[in-house]
Amino acid sequence: MADTARSPAATMLTLLLVVAAAAVAEAAVPAIASQAVRHVNRWGPFLGVVVPNGFEMEPLLRSPDFSPAKELPYLDVAGEKKVIIVMTGLGMLNSGVTTQLLLTLFDVEGIVHFGIAGNADPNLHIGDVTIPRYWAHTGLWNWQRYGAGPENELALESNGDYTRKYGALNFSDYTVLAAGEKSGNLLNSVWYQPEEVFPTNGTPESRRHAFWVPVDDRYYRLSKNLESITLERCVNATTCLARRPAVARVERGCSASAFVDNAAYRGFLRSRLGVTAIDMETAAVALVAAQQGAPFIAVRSLSDLAGGGSAESNEAGVFAALAARNAVAVAVEFIKLLG
Ligand SMILES: *[C@@H]1O[C@H](CO)[C@@H](O)[C@H](O)[C@H]1NC(C)=O
Ligand SMILES: *[C@@H]1O[C@H](CO)[C@@H](O)[C@H](O)[C@H]1NC(C)=O
Repeated sequence: MADTARSPAATMLTLLLVVAAAAVAEAAVPAIASQAVRHVNRWGPFLGVVVPNGFEMEPLLRSPDFSPAKELPYLDVAGEKKVIIVMTGLGMLNSGVTTQLLLTLFDVEGIVHFGIAGNADPNLHIGDVTIPRYWAHTGLWNWQRYGAGPENELALESNGDYTRKYGALNFSDYTVLAAGEKSGNLLNSVWYQPEEVFPTNGTPESRRHAFWVPVDDRYYRLSKNLESITLERCVNATTCLARRPAVARVERGCSASAFVDNAAYRGFLRSRLGVTAIDMETAAVALVAAQQGAPFIAVRSLSDLAGGGSAESNEAGVFAALAARNAVAVAVEFIKLLG
């Protein structure tokens, strides 16, 4: 009866709306997935858990604190806290896009990111789990022409597009020369640049700049409670770290789409920017969270010395699995604190 009572115009409108909604859903996400997402969101809000790679996600899925939701493979519950876990894949582009999709599609109240990292900090050891206060993307550069120096303005600097504020890596400082020799380098210098950010609560198309992106104040204060966690020491029955690793809240971490296994560059990142953890994703997650106004924190365990060790090969080959397990242990304890 209700159907026949409807005017033809109203029916038409309903049909058009349904078609339009389906078309919109198809544009970004298949309709069936978008229906599933809407269904999942009825259980929200969730905590978003952003994980770089499979070997970092596996130990979380195996953790006794984790129980998968019955209905959907992508909805998971850690302890009493409902979480959506996403795996980004390697690098800044993947992690930025995945974090944006997570925040766009799901009802997410905050983000916990975890993974492994290289260590540039002589005060810490392989296996330690860091929680940096600030993150920078160190892969956005202005590459200065040969012959120009620190006193020369960069291309487009006067527009406010680029700055000399964060310093430069000068390739000639790293040329291998016989004692007493001096040499320039045609690669000259790259100057580190802040990202342009467009906060969702800002003026549209009006940029701000961000180099050191802070984690959420409340999350960071809470993370103090993690310092007493006892972490695993051994990869297996025969390979163990010399000392038991610890949780360390530190000042800085940095990320770029480059795997650092180079002592000279590690030394530069440490002396020039004061970083501890070096990875390939966190700053992208931090920047997207900042633009969207979502609280964010990252836990990164140190799997290697980023090229600064005396071992013949990168230590991650031996310690990555242990580091990943410890990163999961700390991230899960943090999620419980939010409980
Ligand atoms: C880089 O080194 C070259 C050669 O020593 C020097 O001329 C130039 O000014 C340096 N640039 C910066 C940014 O330090
Ligand atoms: C333990 O791990 C190390 C490093 O990966 C490996 O060389 C060694 O064979 C492993 N030992 C056992 C008993 O699995």
